[in-house]
Amino acid sequence: MALERTLSIIKPDAVAKNVVGEIYARFEKAGLKVVAAKMKHLSRKEAEGFYAVHSERPFFNALVEFMISGPVMIQALQGENAILKNRELMGATNPKDAAPGTIRADFADSIDANAVHGSDAAETAAVEIAYFFAATEVFPR
Ligand code: PPS
Repeated sequence: MALERTLSIIKPDAVAKNVVGEIYARFEKAGLKVVAAKMKHLSRKEAEGFYAVHSERPFFNALVEFMISGPVMIQALQGENAILKNRELMGATNPKDAAPGTIRADFADSIDANAVHGSDAAETAAVEIAYFFAATEVFPR
């Protein structure tokens, strides 16, 4: 098993629903440790940059608009197989397809407002963590 780090974002819908603590509890119960965290209201430029890989997809503008609609909670999570473990905790992208007990099944309203983001691979996790956190902001350093 590999000790990994992954980037997680609690999106504006879930922050507005006041379930940040409930989502953190799920991370911790699954053995994921919060090793960096910040609350932020993303600028359009920051959201567009973060999702640049999706810039040609039809939902890109809607995704950016949603991500700048309110503050988000951004964290790096560390643990054994953290990337896959977090994706399992999140559930499918569309909450209609998300397994019962997952974050999206419990807290997401639609594919647009789907509560959480999680890195999908080791390479993207490293890039995404560096997008929001300086090396000195991730602990242990
Ligand atoms: S994923 O999570 O990357 O495997 O899923 P993918 O389907 O490739 O989606 C990439 C991100 O786009 C979001 N998404 C959408 N937003 C708005 N409207 C529609 N229809 C839509 N479809 C997908 C999806 O939630 C992913 O965002 P993140 O933040 O990575 O979860």
